[in-house]
Amino acid sequence: MNNEKLSQITEEFRRRFGTCTHVVFAPGRANIIGEHTDYNDGLVLPFAVSQGLYFAIGPAHTQKSQIFALDVQELWVTDLSGEDVPHPWCIYLLRALSAVGYTGSHFNLVFGGDLPSGAGISSSSALTCGFLYSLSRFASLHLDTADLLSLSVMAERGSGVRGGQMDQYTIIHGLEGHAILLDCKDMSAGFISVDPAYFQFLLINTRKKHHLVSTEYNDRRQDCDLALERIKEVDSSVSSLRDIHAGNMDSYMNVLSLPQSKRVRHLVHENDRVMQMVKAIKNKDLWTAGTLLYQSHQSLSVLYEVSCPELDFLVHWASGQSNIYGARMMGGGFGGCTINLVQGELSDAQKSQLSQSYSDSFGHAPEFIYIKPDHGLRAVL
Ligand code: GLA
Repeated sequence: MNNEKLSQITEEFRRRFGTCTHVVFAPGRANIIGEHTDYNDGLVLPFAVSQGLYFAIGPAHTQKSQIFALDVQELWVTDLSGEDVPHPWCIYLLRALSAVGYTGSHFNLVFGGDLPSGAGISSSSALTCGFLYSLSRFASLHLDTADLLSLSVMAERGSGVRGGQMDQYTIIHGLEGHAILLDCKDMSAGFISVDPAYFQFLLINTRKKHHLVSTEYNDRRQDCDLALERIKEVDSSVSSLRDIHAGNMDSYMNVLSLPQSKRVRHLVHENDRVMQMVKAIKNKDLWTAGTLLYQSHQSLSVLYEVSCPELDFLVHWASGQSNIYGARMMGGGFGGCTINLVQGELSDAQKSQLSQSYSDSFGHAPEFIYIKPDHGLRAVL
């Protein structure tokens, strides 16, 4: 919990609107391994981070709602009809309102936090989930965690990105000190204890904004859909790409195009890597864990083709550092962060050396964000 941010939010609410009735926190999410597997019924191993967004909400007593985004200092005065969308973040709130079919009374809201946006740490899902939960508490909608998950996924798909459910699930269910082994085939989950004395994670943000809609996320998903259709034509027992495994994979390759076969190879091995990572975490086997991260990156870069020069640069740099066990791109790709398994903190010399060489290539320095598994969505007041 970032108490400074929290008091900034509540203080801003008090200054603008008086006393708030509810305060909610929604974290961002990291993912140790299992990338682009969620929408293919696969396995993922994410966790909620300590950084996130705070929401202070209270009654408006007027014919309009006022919503203030503290970090960007933008105010939205709205009748909630959806006709006015002055800032990009308003669209997330409007989609959430429409997903829940909100007809309740007007409210005032201040939100903000310490989650960088566009960094692949799911700031948009934190916004959607946190807003829905704030609204639920404010208007007594009694949304439970299953409602919050389905509504937030529905609201976000309205953006045109055919995302999976990993981000929202993690934000809602995060548990301090644990990663979530989520099986997206049936959404069953188990908590995996992550010993902080061994497993320390650092995000290095490329600071290249990724825009999932305008990138090839949906194209990758379509490759997978088409690959599944082709495989089903020759084997009707296959119901999702999760049914393909290392043992039967090669027998389907001749019905797939080259890009489709590359996507399927990534998925098969990435699902295996998730289970190997769980074992490595339980055994406190940092070397295996690190190797799995590098393998995952290679696969995402070469087979799934969702990396970019900035991410490849950062992973390559990590591979030369004696206090980094492994690294890979995290999230949808094309920008955002790498996740690094580190021993302690990077030295100032390491940070300035990387900042210099990265700036020489890309014109700006990267950002360093230490993360640990923390609790998910919660009521603060
Ligand atoms: C984005 C999506 C997730 C998931 C990842 C890739 O973060 O929102 O559902 O598909 O990309 O693993």
